[in-house]
Amino acid sequence: MAQKTFYITTPIYYPSGKLHIGNSFTTVFCDSIMRYKKLRGYDTYYLTGMDEHGQKVETVAKELGRSPQEHVDLIAHDTKKLWELLDIEYDDFIRTTQPRHEKVVEEIFEQLLGQDDIYLGHYEGHYCIYDESFFTETQLEDGNICPDCGRPTKLVKEESYFLRLSKYEDWLLQFIEENPDFITPETRKNEVVSFIKNGLQDLSVSRTSFDWGVNVKSNPKHVVYVWVDALSNYITALGYGSKDTTLYDKYWKGDEVLHVVGKDILRFHAIYWPIMLHAIGVPVNFKLYAHGWYLMKDGKMSKSKGKVVYPDDLVPHYGLDAMRYFLLKEIPYSGDGVFTPEDFIARINYDLANDFGNLLNRTINMINKYFNSKLTKPEKSYFPFDEELKDTLQASIDSYKEDMDEWKVSSAIQHIWTTISRSNKYIDETMPWVLAKDHDKQAELNSVLYNLVEALRHIGILLKPILINASQGLFEQLNIPSTLQTWDSLDFGLLKEIHVTDKPQALFPRLDKKKEEAFITELLNPVKKEEPKEENFITIDDFTKLELVVGEVQSCKAHPNADKLLVSQVDTGDRVRQIVSGVSKYYTPEEMVGKKLVVIKNLKPVTLRGELSEGMVLAGSNKKALQLVELDQLKPGDKVS
Ligand code: MSP
Repeated sequence: MAQKTFYITTPIYYPSGKLHIGNSFTTVFCDSIMRYKKLRGYDTYYLTGMDEHGQKVETVAKELGRSPQEHVDLIAHDTKKLWELLDIEYDDFIRTTQPRHEKVVEEIFEQLLGQDDIYLGHYEGHYCIYDESFFTETQLEDGNICPDCGRPTKLVKEESYFLRLSKYEDWLLQFIEENPDFITPETRKNEVVSFIKNGLQDLSVSRTSFDWGVNVKSNPKHVVYVWVDALSNYITALGYGSKDTTLYDKYWKGDEVLHVVGKDILRFHAIYWPIMLHAIGVPVNFKLYAHGWYLMKDGKMSKSKGKVVYPDDLVPHYGLDAMRYFLLKEIPYSGDGVFTPEDFIARINYDLANDFGNLLNRTINMINKYFNSKLTKPEKSYFPFDEELKDTLQASIDSYKEDMDEWKVSSAIQHIWTTISRSNKYIDETMPWVLAKDHDKQAELNSVLYNLVEALRHIGILLKPILINASQGLFEQLNIPSTLQTWDSLDFGLLKEIHVTDKPQALFPRLDKKKEEAFITELLNPVKKEEPKEENFITIDDFTKLELVVGEVQSCKAHPNADKLLVSQVDTGDRVRQIVSGVSKYYTPEEMVGKKLVVIKNLKPVTLRGELSEGMVLAGSNKKALQLVELDQLKPGDKVS
């Protein structure tokens, strides 16, 4: 039988900065679904990538003194490193700046224009550069603030192309009705349906206010709006519109296509994308899963408030699997998840180290101790608990499968832990250490430990999409042949003989709770180093605007109208200029004569109490003293810098 195909995609990420656990969640989530489908025998294709065009990229790059291309190259490089760290097995990494993508976007736009699904008009609206979105007056928060990111929006009016969404409103509603599992979870689907029923407005799909994007071929002063550009990645990456459409034919037109997105970008995927596809004649055969968000205890993750968690801080310290486990476990199917240092450490200590790691460790230690690392398949069952263990295991496998098929990864993980708990309970019930004392109970003891190894083998298989290293570690320590690590081998009793390692290793060492919680808390709130304020800086260009030279005082007198001032005639090399200075409390006119001072020559002349002053002399001072800066080895007109 031909293998079924499964194509899965993440959103393509904005290169606005380093990715945190929130964005990483989607990628780890898709990775686990892809691995599950692979385990189930599907031919899978996993796409991720970067959304590299748009005004925000142009602006951020400029602020950082880079060209937009340099900027996106750097971020794409860092993002790939992050996926390597999280062991993401993607098949392709698309970047919207790649010619393979840009060329096809150009054509898609022209096609829509040619068939009058796109038309030219004017757009006026409040635009958030950060979110690349327009908002209506009613959507804005007080002060024209973007409702999504809290930044000020800009009122923009420009010529723009529009996509006729309104024309496809009825078609889309009918499509959603006929494909009830098109959008999941149900609550998100309801949101979309009520949004459409409120009436779709035509979507502005081009900009003239920036350059960093795909130009409209027939009117290049327009740049294709980032969402039309971005959404197309899901088919351009497969070669749609190119010479070689093998992947497109195989995977897009194949058995299953799943787009996984965060709840914030649901509308773009549930409304604009199917309409675009339908309009250009591409089959709309994808499913959409919109997940919740990772939040911090007191709200959204926010870089500006210093409340962001990065996987590359946690993985080197706690390991890949601890990170993946937490990410996948803590966001439920249709809600948000919260990251706290306490929960993160608790999950490692309780779920991974105590429940799971310990089960494996205890089992191996007992096999080593009582049977010199080797077991044989028992002839029969000895305890009523045996059947209960097997029943729990089978029920967990069924529920796990059902959940994974519906993208309920967190819930699927819970079913694995049900089996883990049941296995731990089985040890308490059968008390192998008591059986070991009785020479006549060797067969019972062998059977108990065999059942535990079989349960662990099943657990290892179910964990393959979730815990990459730990599932492998389990198979290695139990010496499970690769043929019995497959989905089809989820059948109790397939192990003929068992020979476990005599050097067991803890998969998840228990952590010092207080110390590790403090470590993560410190990561979240690093001690802020006092950075000099930007406005205190001047550039070297500012400094060189000052013309500083040596000036020799030729003569000096008290100011006729001000006690504190002296009036000096100063030779600055080019000519003699009059300079008024507030130094009479510290210097007499006689003391001034002959001094070679530092003069600012190009200071705008002013009249001070009736006397012209054509420059300024430099002095250092504190509350008690004042001292003129003297350069007595130099001559009038010498430059000071
Ligand atoms: N570039 C667009 C997507 C275009 S897809 C054709 C975009 N990029 S993004 O970088 O801002 O977001 C990418 C994904 O990260 C979104 O699915 C978003 O929901 C997700 N997340 C961002 N912060 C998140 C959390 N705190 N928690 C979970 N996911 C979050 O939108």
